[in-house]
Amino acid sequence: MDNCNLDCETKAKLLHYKQEHLLCIMETLSINKKNKLMEQLKHIDFEQLMTILQQKDQQKIQSPNVTPIHYEEWDDYGEKEQDAFTQKGMELLHNGEIGVIVVAGGQGSRLGHDGPKGTFDIGLPSGKSLFQLQGERLLNLSTRAGKSIPWYIMTSPENHKDTLTFFQASHYFGYPPEDCFFFQQNTMPALDHEGKLLLSPEGLLQLAPSGNGECFSSLKRSGALADMKKRGINWLFYCNVDNALIQIADPAFIGAAAEYNHPIATKVIEKTNVDEKIGILCLNDNRSSVLEYNEIPEDLRNEKDENGRLRYHLGNISIHLFRIDFIEEHADTEIPFHIASKRMDCMDAEGRSLSPDEPNAYKLERFIFDFFPLAEQMTVLMGLRNNEFAPVKNKEGEDSPESARKLVFKLHREWLMAAGVPLEKLPAGDIEISPLLSYGGEGLNSRSVKELLEKD
Ligand code: UTP
Repeated sequence: MDNCNLDCETKAKLLHYKQEHLLCIMETLSINKKNKLMEQLKHIDFEQLMTILQQKDQQKIQSPNVTPIHYEEWDDYGEKEQDAFTQKGMELLHNGEIGVIVVAGGQGSRLGHDGPKGTFDIGLPSGKSLFQLQGERLLNLSTRAGKSIPWYIMTSPENHKDTLTFFQASHYFGYPPEDCFFFQQNTMPALDHEGKLLLSPEGLLQLAPSGNGECFSSLKRSGALADMKKRGINWLFYCNVDNALIQIADPAFIGAAAEYNHPIATKVIEKTNVDEKIGILCLNDNRSSVLEYNEIPEDLRNEKDENGRLRYHLGNISIHLFRIDFIEEHADTEIPFHIASKRMDCMDAEGRSLSPDEPNAYKLERFIFDFFPLAEQMTVLMGLRNNEFAPVKNKEGEDSPESARKLVFKLHREWLMAAGVPLEKLPAGDIEISPLLSYGGEGLNSRSVKELLEKD
């Protein structure tokens, strides 16, 4: 074959790492594509990829040395203490010491929405997208704190442009554009089940966003971390893009985290159903850890304490606070890759496009909670599930737009009832209150119900 453009070093590497299929594929590609592919190959760390694959079978914790972790329960604090935490959090927000990061680089493959997940409208009467719900809640809080809270939005090369376009077309939902910082996360090549680099149907390496655990290094590489330092930010509030009830930059949580001042704080909810597919917070070898639901040994999963509560009941909902010095210290720390088998469109060795029905590829991802064991200690705060957790993961059923919508309606109805709206005045149907009017149920009693509701 004509490999005149293929430098000897790259060719030797491909042969050494048993990637000869790429030499065959190159024969089928145009010069332009071939050059692009070769450029991509120059940046591949084959040694790293092979090491990750070799460790694949060890990735399941063999026999975890798990014990319960200490936690605080918000409801156990007295009213005075709760107020003091909330006030402390508001003070830090006002002083500009808090930034927010939303990790929005995922592919949202289970939801199957055509576009970035944050642009998804879960079907509320207002038609607001997940990004808009977050943005308006942040705007409300910024107004109350008297300071615009810097918002860092992590995208992927796949969805960056569409995310930006969406924000621009929506005028940043009223948020000051200079306080929105968009940056792209890292990617990793996908491999087939034999460890061969997978090609996209276009004939380039199939690069996939490599997990939310890439956010520290991506913050550093993109200049977002330097921006935070310049602004005097000391804590970063971290959340997913797909929680319709996210209490973004929750002042109470911030106040509690600042009081304990451990490098990381995490908000958890009570896991009551043994089979719920959420990870749990615990100690593993005496270090703070998250065990994913499929990593928790059966006997531990079912274990109850003397009150009949699950012993491992602290559900991880991806709401964290990181001290900036911890992020700086660990921006270059190599946390492990997890391997998931996924279905991906690709090109075969003869240059034909394939769209398999079954998983055909290994996707390599880092998870944010793998930073937890690196902190000497963590603050773990248990909040109330129905106040702040409405995940949108699947098309239908559990954790779907429908289940999230119901949770929003239920909470907003409760807000109105708590605000003293008489039952006969509550509408029989769906109740949605704009985040611009109320962040967490406050300030609702003075208005007429009609005024408060979002319209169809
Ligand atoms: P999930 O693990 O739920 O993945 O991400 P996902 O991409 O949204 O959905 P599936 O698994 O493909 O169906 C949890 C959070 O982490 C972000 C997601 O955008 C979501 O907010 N994430 C995930 C990233 O930012 N980057 C990634 O590479 C992966």
